[in-house]
Amino acid sequence: MLNLKEFESLKTECLSCTSCSLSETRQNVVFGRGNPFAKILIIGEGPGQIEDDKGLAFVGRSGKLLDELFLSVGINVEKDCYISNIVKCRPPSNRKPRISEVENCSNWLQNQVSLINPKIIILAGSTAVNSYLNISKPITEIRGKWINKSNIKIMPIFHPAYLLRNPSNEINKPKWTTIQDLKKVKKELNLFV
Ligand code: URA
Ligand code: SF4
Repeated sequence: MLNLKEFESLKTECLSCTSCSLSETRQNVVFGRGNPFAKILIIGEGPGQIEDDKGLAFVGRSGKLLDELFLSVGINVEKDCYISNIVKCRPPSNRKPRISEVENCSNWLQNQVSLINPKIIILAGSTAVNSYLNISKPITEIRGKWINKSNIKIMPIFHPAYLLRNPSNEINKPKWTTIQDLKKVKKELNLFV
């Protein structure tokens, strides 16, 4: 069971982090949103503009699509998941975070993982997959297959921003494929509730 006090104090500490230069251009640190007691932790790349403005993870167009896709398989992101990012501050112009920024920020994420102690981690997009698993594989190759790591089941999926650029609902297209991946997640979640 998560220790909420510890989680809140981790958040408070993170909100004043200046460990990398992204702190100079951010409006807000984006620690995460959702339910820290949940069994699923979703990890994206980094905050975009709307997230930076609001200080909340995945609340722009990508986040709306993610919420919708999860809901379509019966998972309520706000209630059944906690959702955060590899880096907690927005990279200028939404560029990919640099390796040094990912490394500087990784302690926050590691502490989030330890405290939340999720059963399932969903890695959205290649930055999340490659940074979190320390590999460099194309997302097309790795998505949709469970990876077991220190007793956590990890599912890589396409990033919702990619799905916004590929909006077709046709069978075998990225959006359809993502829903199949999320159905596997729902099936696994059902084992724990
Ligand atoms: N994209 C991400 O990877 N994370 C967010 O929080 C928003 C968009
Ligand atoms: Fe700190 Fe991470 Fe923000 Fe860099 S991106 S300032 S390491 S919280």
